Amino acid sequence: MSEFDTGIPHIARVYDYWLGGTDNFAADRELGERTMQAYPNLALSVRANRAFLARAVRFLVAEAGIRQFLDIGTGIPTADNTHEVAQRIAPASRIVYVDHDPIVLAHAKALLTSTPEGATAYLDADLRDPDAILAAAADTLDFSQPVAVMLIAVMHFIGDDAEAGAIMSRLAGACGPGSFVALSHAASDIDAEQMAEMVRRINQTAAEHTTLRDRAGVTRLFDGLELVEPGVVRAAEWRPDSAEQAASPAALWAGVARKP
Ligand SMILES: C[S@@+](CC[C@H](N)C(=O)[O-])C[C@H]1O[C@@H](n2cnc3c(N)ncnc32)[C@H](O)[C@@H]1O
Repeated sequence: MSEFDTGIPHIARVYDYWLGGTDNFAADRELGERTMQAYPNLALSVRANRAFLARAVRFLVAEAGIRQFLDIGTGIPTADNTHEVAQRIAPASRIVYVDHDPIVLAHAKALLTSTPEGATAYLDADLRDPDAILAAAADTLDFSQPVAVMLIAVMHFIGDDAEAGAIMSRLAGACGPGSFVALSHAASDIDAEQMAEMVRRINQTAAEHTTLRDRAGVTRLFDGLELVEPGVVRAAEWRPDSAEQAASPAALWAGVARKP
């Protein structure tokens, strides 16, 4: 464990704490508590984000026929990781996971539990270098066939709009027609005051800087793609399974879009 910088909170570990996991250190737990005090619905909000991830993967496999996933900003493995949801429906699904945090790398073997028919791979790489990600992912994914790029709760770590737009274009540009992008992003215009204070506390100490965007800003990330129904909505309201699920607090905008 000595390779980890345990004195500074890291988002992957704070997120694990919010989800009730145990792969975190004192500094992560302290920030986890301080942020939950600022935004008391935070734990429900991150659970709603995980539920969106699972519904989006289910839609992509069962309704859109997708069999390949590039999941960037994977996080520490938890319940219902992308390959588990996808391979439950289509065992031949192929998934490449990408994260830049050493703790995610340390737990990556929990992601390398593919069905024999499918495949999973893990890349220790940075979203800010999409060329490196695409080159390495090509060992596992066939980019001449449709791919779903999963950017779940990760684009808010790219604060500069021009850089965020360039990353989106590069990733979508590498994928063929009929590919998809699924994205969720922390919101500046849902529970606005509590979210602003929550992110102020994160940015005081965490290794990564978080930038909230409003609904229009998140929608712009999908430029050049065709949003599927219901468009960019609160993560809990994206094709919910029940009225109860839809009503969950969730201060993230979410959407799924198709490359024409
Ligand atoms: C909030 S967690 C989200 C995990 C998962 N996608 C989910 O939504 O449940 C964000 C993850 O993105 C990773 N991350 C942040 N910035 C990144 C970057 N520039 N490149 C790759 N991963 C990054 C963090 O290490 C963390 O594991």
